[in-house]
Amino acid sequence: MSHSHVPIRVAVLGSGFFGTTLALACRDDDAFEVTAICDLDSTSADELARRVGARTLSDPSQLAAAADVDLVMIATPNHTHAAATIALLNAGKSVFVEKPLAITGPDALAAVEAAGRSTGLLLVGHVERTMPGIKRMYHAARSGELGTLLEGYGSRSRLIHVPQGADNWWKLDGARTGGELLHEIHELDLLTWILGDPVEIRATAGAPRPAGGPPEDSVHKTTLKFASGAVAYHELSTSAHVADWRFRISGTLAALEANLRTGVVSQYTDGQVSAQWGIFDSEQANASLRDSAERKQAYNAAGATSPLWMQAAVECELAEIAAAMRGEESVLIEAPATAVVAGAEAMAQVAAARQAAAHAASDALAGV
Ligand SMILES: NC(=O)c1ccc[n+]([C@@H]2O[C@H](COP(=O)([O-])OP(=O)(O)OC[C@H]3O[C@@H](n4cnc5c(N)ncnc54)[C@H](O)[C@@H]3O)[C@@H](O)[C@H]2O)c1
Repeated sequence: MSHSHVPIRVAVLGSGFFGTTLALACRDDDAFEVTAICDLDSTSADELARRVGARTLSDPSQLAAAADVDLVMIATPNHTHAAATIALLNAGKSVFVEKPLAITGPDALAAVEAAGRSTGLLLVGHVERTMPGIKRMYHAARSGELGTLLEGYGSRSRLIHVPQGADNWWKLDGARTGGELLHEIHELDLLTWILGDPVEIRATAGAPRPAGGPPEDSVHKTTLKFASGAVAYHELSTSAHVADWRFRISGTLAALEANLRTGVVSQYTDGQVSAQWGIFDSEQANASLRDSAERKQAYNAAGATSPLWMQAAVECELAEIAAAMRGEESVLIEAPATAVVAGAEAMAQVAAARQAAAHAASDALAGV
């Protein structure tokens, strides 16, 4: 891509699967210049730094003081996001942090507070917001084209295959991911981005998958109610043999549904499809999305290559990051913490219900 602006100088913290995707995309985008790569694994950092023509920093605390860094992209495991984000914002850096912003509600809100005090910007990797077809849904919903918003629906249900011998992998550890609902936060974010802060949340989760499956809490059902009176339902499963990946928003005049397994957004009026467009503008990217949906689903390991649709999504995301850094409108600015706060509340309800069930079972055993 070609831009007439001074490049944004970027450091990438975390040179694993997604840090690599982000750094390579920045290397290929004139709006950015990658100046530094930092990872606890210096071999991995050196290798990525070589690929993008940047230097390596071995200690994350060096990023705060680096004079040639405007923006730090954080792509480390989820439980490290909030502390790194807050430290960098306090040092006046802008931060783009991968989702989820934090794995607890208070940490997410503390990051937003730090952003309020900082000269830097806080942007979260809610990449689905930036996909052109979904961005169009947002604008239609916000401009009143759908009438009064009544209902939202989000689903990410598939069967995740876990590699053998990955027992201590952070992506299978709820203490480091925040649990599946926060790790796979994208559709929950779309719902709260468009409908606002939920005023009521009801969540339940199925029994954990048997040993070897990812992670605990693999089947979640969450209902949300919003101040406007709109309601939403969100489903997430890593154990679903019938896969579903969609996002819908319905109003009094029309409904819009993005089906991420087909790459198509459909507008419905009176039950009939009244318009359709792609999730991406490029048919190749939509075809790649369809192709990925057909394949075995797994968490990506470091060293994996992003499929074409993900690269296309990151290109869209970079355009939104660059716009935000230039002080222009960007879909990544609004509601950075809402989905984490909602998701963490849902997770807390699930944990409390599990604990109550465990107590009831032990009371029954003891004959209380
Ligand atoms: N937006 C998306 O669609 C998407 C897709 C994949 C991953 N992600 C997010 O990207 C982040 C990274 O995921 P990944 O798949 O690249 O994981 P990964 O395990 O491949 O990479 C993580 C890297 O962080 C490094 N690291 C760990 N702790 C660190 C620390 N404290 N300081 C510096 N480096 C540290 C590790 O050495 C590793 O290289 C996660 O938050 C994940 O949720 C987002």
